[in-house]
Amino acid sequence: ISLLKGKKPLAGRKVLVTAGGTIERLDPVRYITNDSSGKMGFALAEAARDLGADVTLVCARTDGPPPSGVTVVRTPSAGEMLAAVMERLPEMDAVVKAAAVADYRPAERHENKMKKGAETMTLTLVRNPDILQEIGNWRYSDEGNPRRSPFVVGFAAETTDVERHALDKLARKRADLIVANDVSQEGVGFGADSNAVNVYGAEGLVLALDRQSKRRIAERLWQLIADRAGWKPS
Ligand code: CTP
Ligand code: CA
Repeated sequence: ISLLKGKKPLAGRKVLVTAGGTIERLDPVRYITNDSSGKMGFALAEAARDLGADVTLVCARTDGPPPSGVTVVRTPSAGEMLAAVMERLPEMDAVVKAAAVADYRPAERHENKMKKGAETMTLTLVRNPDILQEIGNWRYSDEGNPRRSPFVVGFAAETTDVERHALDKLARKRADLIVANDVSQEGVGFGADSNAVNVYGAEGLVLALDRQSKRRIAERLWQLIADRAGWKPS
C-alpha cells in the first residue's frame, strides 16, 4: 500500500507545454510582443514535472527563468514555435498551449536597423500561423493517428463573452479542452501569480476554478487532463 501511495499520476507520460509571449521582429533591435509573463506555462510545466511527467517546455519571451528539471526549447517567434511543436507532436501524450502567440508579425523583417525618415510610418502586419489550429488539423488528418494523438488543451484570454469565444475556439481548433481566463478581472491572468479560469469541453463548462495560485490551478488542470484522457497511474 505504501508503494502505491508513492505513484505519481503523470508517471510515464510525455507532455509538452508552451509558455510566454512570442516576439515578432521588425529589425535587429525592434520587435512586437505582448504582456504574457509565461507564469501560467511555467506553473503547468512545474506541476507536470512534480506529478511525474517527462516535460518539454517550448517557450518564447518570459519574465523569469524556466523551471528546472524540464527540457527547455527556446522559440522566440510564432513561426519557430510552430516548427518546434509540430516536430514533437507525434511522441506526446498531451500538449498544453499556454503561450500567447502573436496573431500578426511584421510583413518584412529588415536585416539592418531601420533609419527614421518621414513624419509618419505605416507598419504592415501579416497573419501568423495558428499553432493550436495546426495541431487540430493534424490530429484529424490522415497523417495523425487518432489513437496515438495527444490530448490537446488550448487557452483563451478574453475580455468579453468569455464562454461564447471559448466554445468557438474549442470547436474551431478541435481541441479537447479550452482554459478561459477573463483578463479584464483584477489580479488574474497576464503577469499575475494567481489566476481564475473556466475550463470548457465539448459539453460546455467542465471546471470552474476561482482565484488561486497558478501552481494550484496547474495541478487541478493536470488532474482533469489525466482523468479526461483516461490515464491510469503506471
Ligand atoms: N494560438 C496559437 N497560435 C496563434 C494564436 C493562438 O496556437 N497564432 C493558441 C494560443 O496558444 C491559445 C489559443 O490558441 O492556446 C487561443 O489563443 P487566443 O489568442 O485566445 O485565440 P485566437 O484564435 O488567436 O483568437 P483572438 O486572438 O482573435 O481572440
Ligand atoms: Ca490571439
